[in-house]
Amino acid sequence: MINIAILGYGTVGSGIFEVLNTNAKSISVKVGDDINVKYVLDLRDFPGDPVEKVLVHDFDTILNDPEVAIVAEAMGGVEPAYTFAKKALESGKSFCTSNKELVAKHGAQLLAMAKERNLNFLFEASVGGGIPVIRPFNESLTPEQIVEVSGILNGTTNYILTKMTCEGLDFDSVLKDAQDKGYAERNPEADVEGYDACRKIAILSSLAFGKQVDFEDIKTEGITKITDIDIMYAKSMGKVIKLIGNAKKDDNGSVSAMVAPFIIGSDSPLFFVNDVFNAIAVTGNTLDTVMFYGKGAGKLPTASAVVADIIDEAKHLNDNIKVVWDEEKLELKKADDMTSRFFVRLSGDDAKIKDNVKAAFGEVETVECSQVSGEYAFITGCISEKDFETAISSFPNYINRIRVK
Ligand code: HSE
Repeated sequence: MINIAILGYGTVGSGIFEVLNTNAKSISVKVGDDINVKYVLDLRDFPGDPVEKVLVHDFDTILNDPEVAIVAEAMGGVEPAYTFAKKALESGKSFCTSNKELVAKHGAQLLAMAKERNLNFLFEASVGGGIPVIRPFNESLTPEQIVEVSGILNGTTNYILTKMTCEGLDFDSVLKDAQDKGYAERNPEADVEGYDACRKIAILSSLAFGKQVDFEDIKTEGITKITDIDIMYAKSMGKVIKLIGNAKKDDNGSVSAMVAPFIIGSDSPLFFVNDVFNAIAVTGNTLDTVMFYGKGAGKLPTASAVVADIIDEAKHLNDNIKVVWDEEKLELKKADDMTSRFFVRLSGDDAKIKDNVKAAFGEVETVECSQVSGEYAFITGCISEKDFETAISSFPNYINRIRVK
């Protein structure tokens, strides 16, 4: 029997307990041994819940029990998860987590600690919830030099943008509806400002390029400035607006990373990803592009991914699974130097505006939208962020801009 502990009995933690109980027999067959949840740590009590028999309130009970081989964390936040992870590894216990804040900030260090001790630190559920995407980086994708990772990494914002597109509603009313239905948090900042997607692309790009990508270095914009009119323009072009986390290696080897709303067409596999679904498209130098798709959040899908890590760790006791993510920092290309095409809206539609646009941006592609009047909209050629900001600063009639893939 392999004894494990679960840290946190919230949505994901209780899901881990449920998945392990529901599928106990088939999991035993796959591991070749029974997995026994010896402890669940939570500050709260759960009278009448089956977890009562194994509930503890003090992490030291778990730490000081040599029978516990694996600790699965589902508390969220950097602390105390980071301290618990270090202490567990120092005590000879493998650790797995669904916690993207912990992994983005300290993943490289915790991987090194696990390696030194012939243990494992796994984090499949930290990106894309139930979608298997981290493990493929260390297995099926190992022959590749990764060129690009591009994903819809946040279910809340994808739900909001899908609703705005399908029902022609504005951002505020869709957000309120999503909050009333429990799809969006009461404090939605981490989702709608792109911070959640930023942690996730930091993790994916660290794995893709093998070095520490600091999430603080990633230029991040959310979806709060996207309006129903922007969506009308996108529709008139046969395109959609999606919040995309992207990391890409140039021919000269420099890596750029960004989280922002992008206008994309049906030539992108991400075009078809709607509602709360997530998808991650990975391009390798010989494989071309593959896409991982599924539920990026939710109790049981996320718990299933943590249980996959528990099973892997149970199958690899005292046997480190190699994960290439060095602590050495990867210097990203400066945000100012990153290039895109930009969709731009200006108020007014007289001939002088078009002359001014041509003088500032050169040849542009005019965008027509029959439902909008009194505006001039266009798409620039490929220019740097810095050059765009310089050029647009001379337009007092500027309304909005969205990058175009
Ligand atoms: N708030 C996240 C989302 C949950 O909406 O995708 C999973 O990290």
